[in-house]
Amino acid sequence: MSGFKRAFGLMKRNPRAASEPRVDAARILDALPLAMVVLDEQDNISTVNYAAEEFFGSSKNLLMNTHLSEILPLDHPIFLVLERARRDGLTVAEHDMALEGPRLARRGCAVQAAPLQDAPGFVVLTLQDESAARALDQQMSARNAARSITGMAAILAHEVKNPLSGIRGAAQLLEASAPAQDRELAVLIRDEADRIRAMVERMETFGEKKLERHAVNIHRVLEHVRKLSGSGFAARIRFIESYDPSLPHVHGNRDQLVQVLLNLVKNAAESIAGMERDDGEIHLSTGFQHGVRLSASSGRMRANLPLFVAVRDNGPGIPEDIRRHLFEPFISTKASGSGLGLALVAKIIADHGGLIDMESRPGRTEFRINLPVFEEPGESDG
Ligand SMILES: Nc1ncnc2c1ncn2[C@@H]1O[C@H](COP(=O)(O)OP(=O)(O)OP(=O)(O)O)[C@@H](O)[C@H]1O
Ligand SMILES: [Mg+2]
Repeated sequence: MSGFKRAFGLMKRNPRAASEPRVDAARILDALPLAMVVLDEQDNISTVNYAAEEFFGSSKNLLMNTHLSEILPLDHPIFLVLERARRDGLTVAEHDMALEGPRLARRGCAVQAAPLQDAPGFVVLTLQDESAARALDQQMSARNAARSITGMAAILAHEVKNPLSGIRGAAQLLEASAPAQDRELAVLIRDEADRIRAMVERMETFGEKKLERHAVNIHRVLEHVRKLSGSGFAARIRFIESYDPSLPHVHGNRDQLVQVLLNLVKNAAESIAGMERDDGEIHLSTGFQHGVRLSASSGRMRANLPLFVAVRDNGPGIPEDIRRHLFEPFISTKASGSGLGLALVAKIIADHGGLIDMESRPGRTEFRINLPVFEEPGESDG
């Protein structure tokens, strides 16, 4: 107990200072992972904590004495929340709020406004981006779902592949000897056998093999994916690339990351293919989010995930009714889709200790992946 107190500087060092806490309130607020802003009666920012600086992507000096309307438009519902908190003298909470203004673009935020008792008109506003928490949550359920089909995949692979190659071989023999009008059927059997084989092989990747990870140049991976898709399913789609050339290497498995990005680009291309317009484009980007200490735990590992890769398309967006289960297997709106693509993506990203998040509205769908940075052996993995 005393060790705990000492560790947190809560020991009363000398009796004279008994009533003064050793850690001042501002430092405690800076340690809080929740963004906190204090507003005066006119909605000017009177103080912010460190998490709020990160949240707004701006320094304390710039934020202080700024009117909230310089960050969010005056007709933003957040002003109603503040008004209600002041009027009723109670904490008012709002979930899933989009905070979008000239200097801010965040969706799915939880907002709480609490009146400060000692200072009439002052309100403490806390802001939390729930998308990271949601992504983690979603990923956990996707991971469990993926596990449950792991066993099934192994059995399928074992039991289906052998007879399948028999069927395929027989069809090929028929193809050679059958009269012209039947040859078409033999080709059909062969093609369908190939399709089943491809699907079984895809399911096999759900297997719990040990993940071999190295330093991976994500830009090479993207280049490869672009080449593969540009000469195939995305041949007529315009690609836009904005890469951060100074990006460090990812700690990952190159082949699996190719698979992840190929699936995302394929989905993007398929969503565009469904449109009448012909101005479909896929935006690939990478970057480093300075100051972001997003971390995800996978097993016993914890990693910092400041590095991101995003795939964005201007297709019609993801149907509302499947969003909650998007990363689960067999969720598909496509006539010939297996619904395994995103489940596989979620599984691979979770195995990497990374995070995947999705944001979609008509004309703009983005999948954003945060991945761990490769660190030379011996460097701290903080
Ligand atoms: N970029 C996107 N735009 C619109 N909808 C998307 C996008 N990506 C995924 N979806 C939706 O999510 C569903 C699931 O995607 P997923 O990749 O898991 O399966 P699929 O593409 O249907 O089949 P498969 O990948 O196995 O061929 C899709 O059917 C589609 O409805
Ligand atoms: Mg897909």
